[in-house]
Amino acid sequence: MSGELRAYYARRAREYERIYEKPERQEDLARLAALLADDLAGHEVLEIACGTGYWSQVIARSARRLHATDAVAEPLEIAKAKDWPPDKVTFGTCDAYDPAAAPGDFTALFAGFWWSHVPRPDLPAFLDAVHRRLGPGGRVVFVDNRFVAGSSTPIAETDGDGNTYQLRPLSDGSRHRVLKNFPDRAEFTALLDGRARNLDLVELPYFWRLRYEVAG
Ligand SMILES: C[S@@+](CC[C@H](N)C(=O)[O-])C[C@H]1O[C@@H](n2cnc3c(N)ncnc32)[C@H](O)[C@@H]1O
Repeated sequence: MSGELRAYYARRAREYERIYEKPERQEDLARLAALLADDLAGHEVLEIACGTGYWSQVIARSARRLHATDAVAEPLEIAKAKDWPPDKVTFGTCDAYDPAAAPGDFTALFAGFWWSHVPRPDLPAFLDAVHRRLGPGGRVVFVDNRFVAGSSTPIAETDGDGNTYQLRPLSDGSRHRVLKNFPDRAEFTALLDGRARNLDLVELPYFWRLRYEVAG
């Protein structure tokens, strides 16, 4: 699955940011940007699965420092080519499941639209790796989609672990089966019980934002 996901995002890189142009989502996107700028102000941030750097640009405005990473070269090259504040932003290749591989010390970790691509059985190990990377007290922020009928790509399939899949077309005519989960408050609470403190979930019509500190 992981290899398929990477291949899909490599092919999608040049058209990726069209997703941020949907008119009905603009108000929520502005609210998310304001939340993130506040959540990560003054932090030394490790971003995983940064893609084309759409949210990196938001974070770079208020963070003290940002190291933005992705496992796929194509979106990362687009991110690097954007305008960045001097001496504040660096880039690197990193597997989101192995954040220990990213060099440096960080006070916060951010991932946008990544949680939904983590198979449900892999979430505990993924979160533990993130938490080990930061240490107790480290701030973690995730944002992702809520499912909205008529706006979201329909769910085509659900597997035995409760993972949901969409069939997504690209402009080259190809179609891709992509894991895309839509977690709810109960799932966050169950997964993070004992792993996190100060859990703060904001549910907007189209997106959610989860912020907490690593327990310990
Ligand atoms: C939905 S996109 C999110 C991009 C960006 N964070 C955003 O919100 O605009 C998911 C990203 O995960 C990256 N990716 C896929 N597998 C990965 C992995 N194992 N480790 C790190 N990044 C991965 C893809 O290249 C893609 O850029």
